[in-house]
Amino acid sequence: MEKFLIKGGAPLEGEIPVSGAKNSALPALAACLLTDEAVTLRRVPRVRDIRTMERLLEHIGAAVERSDNGRVTVQAAALANPEAPYDLVKTMRASSLVLGPLVARTGRARVSLPGGCAIGARPINLHVAGLEQLGAVISQTHGYIEARAPQGLRGARVHFDRITVTGTEDILMAAVLASGETLIENAAREPEVVDLADLLTRMGARIEGAGSSLIRVQGVERLHGADHTIIPDRIEAGTFLIAGAITGGDLLVTGCRPDHLGALIQKLRQAGCELAEPDASTLRVRRPGHLKATDVTTEEYPGFATDLQAQYLALMTQGEGISFITETIFENRFMHASELLRMGANIRVEGRQAIVAGPSRLSGAGVIASDLRASASLVLAGLVARGETLVDRVYHIDRGYERIEEKLARVGADIRRVD
Ligand code: EPZ
Repeated sequence: MEKFLIKGGAPLEGEIPVSGAKNSALPALAACLLTDEAVTLRRVPRVRDIRTMERLLEHIGAAVERSDNGRVTVQAAALANPEAPYDLVKTMRASSLVLGPLVARTGRARVSLPGGCAIGARPINLHVAGLEQLGAVISQTHGYIEARAPQGLRGARVHFDRITVTGTEDILMAAVLASGETLIENAAREPEVVDLADLLTRMGARIEGAGSSLIRVQGVERLHGADHTIIPDRIEAGTFLIAGAITGGDLLVTGCRPDHLGALIQKLRQAGCELAEPDASTLRVRRPGHLKATDVTTEEYPGFATDLQAQYLALMTQGEGISFITETIFENRFMHASELLRMGANIRVEGRQAIVAGPSRLSGAGVIASDLRASASLVLAGLVARGETLVDRVYHIDRGYERIEEKLARVGADIRRVD
């Protein structure tokens, strides 16, 4: 199994480029199922979750053509097999994103229930309830959700009891082909939802309010092909900003959207970092002095992203004082804490809160990645730890970061992939 071998201590300096957003490219690929015409997506990151989604689309019956420069063209002319099987769903929960498009386009879908995962239970009950509102008849057998709407979906009011990102995306994709008007209330406001709405609009959908908590959709009879560029990955960009901050370097994070990173930028400034925006797609991070402990509570966008919590926690091991890191989105997202303890961090986890006392002199150790963002936090800790850190199970990090070790090495990190 592949590992990262990291020798800590080097401040990161130079330019580090940001890839397209994994969590935008995933729903965008699922949206390609909504039309029989070809849809071209650009800036699709080459990460494992994207490959899994492409395999899922092929399993369903779409033709997927990918080129080296991040361009992917999908043509879903006929959908012979409208189902997401267990072996794909269990490796990537975002597979449930095909539920909405499949019912909307073919009147039926069969999607395996995801089961538990490292960061929490992650059910899809809200996706299912939303589809029922749109008129789908849902049954559950043999671990699969089956949805049927032989007469097509009809627009309705869908109110989410809690904010769900892929739930909002799933229902949005179903609603664009439903007859009449759909109102999605308490919708997720994440930039990835807006990006999906932009793609769907290019495909001929009629959507208002994406990016707010009320999305209004007027259903259309059919969608057509389109050409769309995926937004930059704000979580990758945020991870790099934290890498610059933790190593005390001077890093330019290029090709990003600073306006998507407001909550993190504010926290980094409170912690004593200097953040500048030399141009509209670049952020510069420097740390002139010591880091200060700062508290963080994860929230839905535009709040502090849960997907940056693990990385921020690693940063706070270097902050002076006590910081309280509170996780409100997922119930079990502190798996990285016990690995960071092995590197000498001082962290106590109490329920949904991690209390971090710093600064700690981290020392390199063998650690195990448990999920995507937890593995990123271990890499960050390895960049400042004394001696060698060996991060095992880096396939987790490959799910969502494009060649992270190459990007970090180019700005001065001593990191390499070993078998
Ligand atoms: C998306 O997951 C992201 N994935 C996650 O990124 C991210 O952590 C998460 O949103 C929160 O921002 C993609 O976009 C592909 P949710 P999603 O539905 O949509 C509960 C990463 O590291 N819930 O917004 O699955 C759920 O259990 C990944 O890149 C229900 O109860 O998350 C959670 O507590 C990990 N029932 C909360 O809502 C449902 O039907 C928010 O989850 C759906 C969700």
